[in-house]
Amino acid sequence: MMMKGCFGEVGVCVVLLVCCWGQEVTAQPALTYHNHVHVAGSTHAESRYGMNDVSCPYQVRSFEIDYEHSQFLKDGQPYRYVSGSIHYFRVLAADWPDRLWKLRMAGFNAVQTVIEWATHEPRQGEYLFSGNNDLEEFIKTAQRLGLDVILRIGPYICAERDMGGMPYWLLKLHPDIRLRTSDPAFLRHMDRWLGEVLLPRIRSLLYENGGPVIMVQLENEYGCLVKLCDRHYTKHLRDLTREKLGPRVVLFTTDNPIPDHLMEGKIPGVYATIDFGVGKDPKEMFKMQRLFEPRGPLDNSEYHSGWMDHWGLHHHTVDSKVLAEGLDAILALNASVNMFMFHGGTSFGLTSGSNILPKFRANPTSYDYDAPVSEAGDPTDKYLPIRDVVSKYLPVPQGPIPRPTKKGVYGAVNLTAIASLWEVAARLPTTYHPWPLTFEQLDLSVGLVIYSTRVPFRIPDPARLSLPNVHDRGYVFVGGRDAGMVSREQGMMDVAVRATQGDTITVVVESQGRISAGSHINDFKGLTTNATLNGHVLKGWNMTAVPLTNTSILPDAPWSPRHLPATPGTPSGGLTFYSGVFTVPDEDPHPLNTFLRVNGWSKGVAWVNRFCLGRYWPEVGPQVTLYVPWSILKRGQNELLLLELESAPCPAPLPCAATLQDKHVLDGPTPT
Ligand SMILES: *[C@@H]1O[C@H](CO)[C@@H](O)[C@H](O)[C@H]1NC(C)=O
Ligand SMILES: *[C@@H]1O[C@H](CO)[C@@H](O)[C@H](O)[C@H]1NC(C)=O
Repeated sequence: MMMKGCFGEVGVCVVLLVCCWGQEVTAQPALTYHNHVHVAGSTHAESRYGMNDVSCPYQVRSFEIDYEHSQFLKDGQPYRYVSGSIHYFRVLAADWPDRLWKLRMAGFNAVQTVIEWATHEPRQGEYLFSGNNDLEEFIKTAQRLGLDVILRIGPYICAERDMGGMPYWLLKLHPDIRLRTSDPAFLRHMDRWLGEVLLPRIRSLLYENGGPVIMVQLENEYGCLVKLCDRHYTKHLRDLTREKLGPRVVLFTTDNPIPDHLMEGKIPGVYATIDFGVGKDPKEMFKMQRLFEPRGPLDNSEYHSGWMDHWGLHHHTVDSKVLAEGLDAILALNASVNMFMFHGGTSFGLTSGSNILPKFRANPTSYDYDAPVSEAGDPTDKYLPIRDVVSKYLPVPQGPIPRPTKKGVYGAVNLTAIASLWEVAARLPTTYHPWPLTFEQLDLSVGLVIYSTRVPFRIPDPARLSLPNVHDRGYVFVGGRDAGMVSREQGMMDVAVRATQGDTITVVVESQGRISAGSHINDFKGLTTNATLNGHVLKGWNMTAVPLTNTSILPDAPWSPRHLPATPGTPSGGLTFYSGVFTVPDEDPHPLNTFLRVNGWSKGVAWVNRFCLGRYWPEVGPQVTLYVPWSILKRGQNELLLLELESAPCPAPLPCAATLQDKHVLDGPTPT
């Protein structure tokens, strides 16, 4: 039985698990790690080969597909993975041990993560692999906790990330680039990233080389793009990966269980797996996999524990009982499975993406995903039912069951306006061009661009200002007065304006995140086509890129001698930075995780101690509060900084304040 085989495999590896567990350290005082983890159940069950006790020598580490018996073999022993997705870039490094430990304690034997190109190469040729980007440390932490690792190397990952995880500068360098194809421009950059940077780093972490990485996924749901179907590209990706990782590594693809998709997504010599969530009959779904892989392990590489959210649309949840029953049904078929997500985490900074549904819709900051471990790292009502199911099939470590941690209630934070966006922008370089340039042409990944031009002729009253293809949201000012807004989400690209010849027209354009999936991923931001006034093209633009994720451009705090005088960005307090301090007690167990509630504020971006938490937009929901991880806080004084884009609650009727509370609200009301 596969189950026995798995017991055997864990049995011989348990010594390693115990000795390595002891090395695990945690920075969070509230957590308990235990040096002795016992694996329940038989540890020496007879394998189908009856040679358990003499095989599995560590010097011959191997991981492979056994087509004859439709299973994986690890060190020659039958193996199946029960893995959970945790994206290392959605969890701060200080919490990696905790989240991976919670995965292991639920009985899972593997972790799956996507690897994000844009995270590691935010600017061309500038590679980041330390701190929160220390992918190798994440993988090694998983190994120390007894988890195997499954990597999805992309280069396209989707994952509700800006541009599906690919860097914006591809669009800057090659405006006509055909992403995810054998376009030589795309292949050249992909080859450098994967071939020269990422894959050489991964090689020593492969299972056969002593590391925990058992499988590597290429591309992601490539079959979705039935029209692209560029086999030269997928084979190139396969050959590059084989060349850099060696001939033995198990490569796989993931596609929807739809024959057309599998047909397009399948790469010869690469194992085809499928993905599906609750409410589907696993037997029927796996029949689709069998059409393309008549033999080999059944494998659902994305079993959805919840679903992504979008600003302005209701919060998604999946019932815990239904999720557990579905998992049971998959495991009962001897299949391997990856739960997507086991812990979703947060799209910190401005990294979340958007979708065409068919209207443009942006993903919020939270990636909680209604997963078994919440955004703040707490086991949810799914955790124990999932663990119970897994324990029927795999040995589950004994030890304390993870519990929710205490949250900080740091109370109201009084905020003062410290600078307008105009003041901050005045310190930044301005570019002139006859036509509006995109974010990419201005070499800006995310943030805002301030566009301004003059009304060159006499116009009727009012006149139609058209900003077709504004990506994604623009605040319009004419002659310094608020003149309304344009919105890609709402398909509103025109405003009626009153202006006299010579007036300045200013548009502050926000990127809400590049499209992450489908055929629209070349999603240029800003004013992506010409603007017209009363039908005449407006010429002659000054543009200021405001890279909000670059902390050096943020206004100084009020207590800094260099801080700017406060002037409101707009009469309602929009386009203004606000700063305030709050105190974290100087005693155990502080600092604690907490949640930022911005009651009365409209839409903007929040930082704590200059770490960008992400976008807030409580007016449209469903996300109301922002997760503030303990590790960015310090005992004593901390700074909260907001950039409010639309309107502030102060001075009346509400105080100019935000709150740090112990309750996370992800299911707030949304517009009808
Ligand atoms: C699962 O594997 C075991 C051992 O190989 C086998 O006896 C059993 O029939 C399999 N179950 C299914 C549903 O394939
Ligand atoms: C915040 O401001 C209010 C009203 O001005 C004041 O009563 C309160 O003490 C302030 N709170 C802090 C923490 O400074």
